[in-house]
Amino acid sequence: MATPVRASDTPFAAAVEQGKDYWWCSCGQSKNQPFCDGSHKTEGAFTPVKYTAADSATVYFCGCKASGNKPLCDGSHKQAV
Ligand code: FES
Ligand code: FES
Repeated sequence: MATPVRASDTPFAAAVEQGKDYWWCSCGQSKNQPFCDGSHKTEGAFTPVKYTAADSATVYFCGCKASGNKPLCDGSHKQAV
């Protein structure tokens, strides 16, 4: 199975709007982290993950791409790689 690029060692804080859809980059190659910019199409092994904001708030999207609760950070980035 392909391994995503570790885009960041920490999560990305992002202000989201209630009811709006966001596309989280799962491959780690996007230049617009934490969101997909279409770069995954080069390799083809990954697709973005949709996130629909339940509330308008600041949420923490996973930057290490190893979260067990994608697309959100679950603290997995603290583990040694
Ligand atoms: Fe990473 Fe689209 S650029 S999933
Ligand atoms: Fe990936 Fe926290 S940044 S789990």
